[in-house]
Amino acid sequence: PPYAVGYFVGSLSTQSVNRTLSRALLRLAPSELTFTEIPIGGLPLYNRDLDGDFPPEARDFKALIARQDALLFITPEYNRSIPGALKNAIDWASRPYGENVIARKATAVIGASPGQIGTAVGQQHLRSILSFLQAPQMNAPEAYIWMRPGLIEEDGTVTDPGTEEFLRGYMNAFFEYIERVLTVVPPAS
Ligand code: FNR
Repeated sequence: PPYAVGYFVGSLSTQSVNRTLSRALLRLAPSELTFTEIPIGGLPLYNRDLDGDFPPEARDFKALIARQDALLFITPEYNRSIPGALKNAIDWASRPYGENVIARKATAVIGASPGQIGTAVGQQHLRSILSFLQAPQMNAPEAYIWMRPGLIEEDGTVTDPGTEEFLRGYMNAFFEYIERVLTVVPPAS
């Protein structure tokens, strides 16, 4: 440690409950983790015609991901999948063929929804995508956040102690997971 965590917020909305959740996670994370947002809103639509000559926004985006030890995805569910903006960003990160910068990064997935299913279905789609891209994923704990009004304040203060404890535990588990992924375990003799 410290480990560099790049985080994606899957929503472009200024009112995003997932951005509010991201603020809570950063506040509750262990001090061994440092955070950098990987913005997705400025990327053009992915087009493989550009594989030989990526636009500067996409180059910078990929370079920022490459510098991270781990990636945290905080995303809403759109129509039982992930938002198009996030899929577009991941598609850029995965190309050109053979230059996938998500491969081998320790990853974790979390999301919030005003609905009680709490992004569970969208997260499964994201897990499939990350599996295909060769990213090791923290399998447990899972985190499906049902965002009731007032649960987390604008600045990321969690008002419900049980939720606060759960989110702190989630970030501690992610820290331990990153450490396991980055640690080279010698073969048994
Ligand atoms: C939604 N919403 C939604 N919620 C959910 O739990 N499952 C879903 O499949 C969907 N689908 C969906 C599609 C689209 C296009 C929109 C705009 C919204 C509701 C969604 O969870 C809610 O708007 C959240 O507030 C979105 O997250 P952010 O933007 O607040 O972070």
